[in-house]
Amino acid sequence: MIEQKNEDKHNYTEVISKLINVIIVLILVIVILSVLLYNYLPDYVPQKEVSSSTIQPDSNGNFTDAAKQEALKHIDTTRYWKAPDETTLASSEKELVLYGKELIAHTAKYYGANGSLEKSATNGMNCQNCHLEAGTKVFGNNYSAVASTYPKYRARSGSIENIFKRVNDCFERSLNGKAIDTTSKEMKAIVAYIYWLGKDVPKGQKPAGSGLKDLAFLKRAANVENGKIVYTEKCQTCHQANGGGQMNSDKTEFTYPPLWGSQSYNDGAGLYRLSSFAKYAKCNMPQGSSYNNTQLTDEEAWDVAAFVNSQPRPKKDISKDWPKINEKPFDHPFGPYADGFDEQQHKYGPFKAIKEKLASINHDKK
Ligand code: HEC
Ligand code: HEC
Repeated sequence: MIEQKNEDKHNYTEVISKLINVIIVLILVIVILSVLLYNYLPDYVPQKEVSSSTIQPDSNGNFTDAAKQEALKHIDTTRYWKAPDETTLASSEKELVLYGKELIAHTAKYYGANGSLEKSATNGMNCQNCHLEAGTKVFGNNYSAVASTYPKYRARSGSIENIFKRVNDCFERSLNGKAIDTTSKEMKAIVAYIYWLGKDVPKGQKPAGSGLKDLAFLKRAANVENGKIVYTEKCQTCHQANGGGQMNSDKTEFTYPPLWGSQSYNDGAGLYRLSSFAKYAKCNMPQGSSYNNTQLTDEEAWDVAAFVNSQPRPKKDISKDWPKINEKPFDHPFGPYADGFDEQQHKYGPFKAIKEKLASINHDKK
């Protein structure tokens, strides 16, 4: 009996010590694994997941208000620039700044065919058609980096430009119209609004989300035929088969602005550069899209840009533009060029080789 008991005890301690060994080995393995994981795994950065599958346009390409609200929720306002709050406007500046905003949002009511200030001074578009949400939308061609970067050197004119020149550039090119008097109340208001928007941006800096979002080049040239298919399927319901857009019922401004034809931007405008158009479209079109809820693939954005910019539009005398031809951008569609590539390739790409050549030319010059 006693012997039996002793043997039991012996077995028992043996099992315990084995267990302890196993536990020690386990702990060692865990420690080693943790150290390895900590040192060798790439940093994990939590990303806000945005599902674009939840927000879909209806068969006409339109978004419901509910869908737009849903899209707004996903905009990461902690990282990207946000326009200042209008309720913080001092009473001394309020009237002028808000008048500037009104002029940008509804330019046609003041300068369009039946404009209250001047009739047919422009093509009837609003600044806001391209500078979305009155120039406040993240990657919607917003004005957040204007106050901080102007006056600045611009290669298009080969000179230091002030903000008045830049605003009038868009009047003369994007709005295919007349420059406005730089001493007018309207110019003062537009500039006051744009400066107020960028008032918190440190001098010389461009905040995250400013202007347009970069878009990767295609390896091939953009394709007009493919672009036509994209246009028919994804743009035409609003911008119309003839590209002329659609006026609102009281004919004061466009509900859907024109993309080509006599009432569109001219061939000296920013959007006539393929990359600007493709970047704008990628993050903003069809209406309801945003940088974190895109509807077009990169290829569709480039191809539809090629199709739209191959259509007829007003011409501007741009013989004085780009006085230094080596500073012409890779996608400026009119020669002469310093880089040896032809107009066709500058208009539709592929662009990578041109960009590299330009970089080496300009590097050698310095
Ligand atoms: C047809 C489209 C279109 C319209 C309409 C338009 N713009 Fe522009 N605007 C552009 C593009 C494209 C750029 C250049 C964006 C770039 O290259 O990053 C630009 C640039 C600007 C800039 C400089 C922005 C910067 O960050 O340097 C200002 C200021 C400006 N526009 C003001 C206006 C004003 C004011 C109006 C109305 C009178 C107007 N724009 C109408 C397309 C347009
Ligand atoms: C659901 C209607 C709708 C669809 C579909 C649509 N757009 Fe637009 N688009 C608009 C509206 C509205 C504006 C003006 C935005 C504003 O004023 O707030 C606009 C503005 C534009 C502009 C700048 C203004 C101009 O007229 O030059 C471009 C460029 C543009 N759209 C391209 C496209 C392309 C390319 C597609 C197809 C991939 C497309 N849009 C599909 C409604 C639409």
